[in-house]
Amino acid sequence: MTAILGISAFYHDSAAALVIDGEIVAAAQEERFTRKKHDHRMPVNAIQFCLDQAGITVADLDHVGFYDKPLLKFERLLETYLSYAPAGFPSFLRAMPLWLKQKLYLPREMDKGLNHQFKNRYVFTEHHESHAASAFFPSPFEEAAVMTLDGVGEWATASFGVGRGNRVELSHELRFPHSLGLLYSAFTYFTGFRVNSGEYKLMGLAPYGDPKYADLIIGKLLDLKEDGSFRMDMSYFNYCQGLTMTSPKFDELFGGPPRKPESPVSQREMDIAASIQKVTEEIMLRMARHVHRVTKQKNLCLAGGVALNCVGNGKILRDGPFENIWIQPAAGDAGGALGVALFIWYQLLENERRVADIDSQYGSLLGPRYADSEVGSFFDSAGAVYHRYDDENVLCDRVAELLATENVVGWFQGRMEFGPRALGARSILGDARSPKMQSVMNLKIKFRESFRPFAPSVLQEKAPEYFGLRAGQESPYMLLVAPVNETKRKLTNGEELGLQGIEKLKLPRSVVPAITHVDYSARVQTVDPRRHGRYRKLIERFEAKTDCPVIINTSFNVRGEPIVCTPEDAYRCFMATNMDVLVVENFVLLKTEQPNKGDFGREEYLAQFALD
Ligand SMILES: [Fe+2]
Repeated sequence: MTAILGISAFYHDSAAALVIDGEIVAAAQEERFTRKKHDHRMPVNAIQFCLDQAGITVADLDHVGFYDKPLLKFERLLETYLSYAPAGFPSFLRAMPLWLKQKLYLPREMDKGLNHQFKNRYVFTEHHESHAASAFFPSPFEEAAVMTLDGVGEWATASFGVGRGNRVELSHELRFPHSLGLLYSAFTYFTGFRVNSGEYKLMGLAPYGDPKYADLIIGKLLDLKEDGSFRMDMSYFNYCQGLTMTSPKFDELFGGPPRKPESPVSQREMDIAASIQKVTEEIMLRMARHVHRVTKQKNLCLAGGVALNCVGNGKILRDGPFENIWIQPAAGDAGGALGVALFIWYQLLENERRVADIDSQYGSLLGPRYADSEVGSFFDSAGAVYHRYDDENVLCDRVAELLATENVVGWFQGRMEFGPRALGARSILGDARSPKMQSVMNLKIKFRESFRPFAPSVLQEKAPEYFGLRAGQESPYMLLVAPVNETKRKLTNGEELGLQGIEKLKLPRSVVPAITHVDYSARVQTVDPRRHGRYRKLIERFEAKTDCPVIINTSFNVRGEPIVCTPEDAYRCFMATNMDVLVVENFVLLKTEQPNKGDFGREEYLAQFALD
């Protein structure tokens, strides 16, 4: 047996992954255990979970890998600061303590994290190699082009190459400070959202705006080439030398200072969001075409933070030259932990790689699970009132009925997802047909911004009926946006009724309004029997009752909270919000029946989580 542990840490989204004899046995993000979103510390809890899952200890590990090369990254920081000196001094001073304390002494920190039980040398792969490995090795392709799109690792900000059998070779890269990820983050910062987590909100805001600044971005901020590579005019940015992302010159170009976080979103931010999204899609598409020209591959694998831009991914799929695309569900830095472990197994140890007709990511359901006995004793100790359904069909039938009558259901089943999306293991579900669900779930359950749309889960074979996906096109990881089909749309026009900006979302614009964005797009998850088991069965039962194979799937958390991990996390979130129903494994709890409802201070609960 060969056991390989991969670790990513000290930037954002720490994670651990365990690969045994080439099989992905376990993977999880540290934030789920510590309840601190994007936790960047050494992932001691995630490591322990991975070992427990396999029933091994640190002493049983043959190899431990780290997902990037800290010395190269340090060199990049030093060179950047030197070339911007003395302007870069404040951010230099701010970054140094963490580097001197932890990052430069990584083996020592790793020893600490592994209780000094690991006696071999650590393996360090380059940041983009880790992303590329995480994209190619679990994919269902024997051969594929591989593209990584990111903020920055050591020096590379984007890279591409080819994966063949058990090897990935990256042949081209774009280098810091020219970075699509950092460009997008600069706009995330400017529109008042948090860098490294608010990028998703910016993408959600884009359909409300008019991309009227797109030409300005391409004309002034970027020198964009036909092959998708670009140089940024760094006088508009401040991330090399300062503590902010953008410079005063940037403010001037976009008509004033950045939006203050949590202040009202104006039409300017919506137009900026639409503009940077349009530019990003254009760059992604040009890069994909170039990668196709150079590699002549028909399959494409994607990873890196920008690969979470599912609107851009959908564009590559529809308008790009590749026949098939596979995207690593943990596309951000958490996935680097999995990448380095797979890299060691295939590329360093030269083990054979066999490809099946399905990817080897197991639906990304790679986290902890909880037995009914554990769940039952927890609910008993909490004084919860529950109904237990040991027959899966009866359970799914009951929950489908509750969904169809407009109840909001917390759904907790099996192993937790690895990656930022909830995929039906730790999800909050609702009826996609309900016109009120959108605002109920945003405001009363998640306590988050009302402009944010929800994503649909749809039975795999029914997806083409509802969405612009060709038959057989899978999207099991919710990483592709597709248009809602014309036949399912309602042709109502918001402007005609005088609706402006965010108000537009109130208008039911399809037969599944809760998951249809204002531009008729939807971030689709296809649900199939092989990956999704009980979740699939639930949607089948829902369809049998309602004739609708689509439900709302949003992550099981409130704003700023990491997705729930344990039954206890789920119960607390259920009790502190207006969620109507909680389903944990075979147990169903109705809010109306809980004796101690109201005991859970909502304000107190929400206050634990910093706004994201
Ligand atoms: Fe990265």
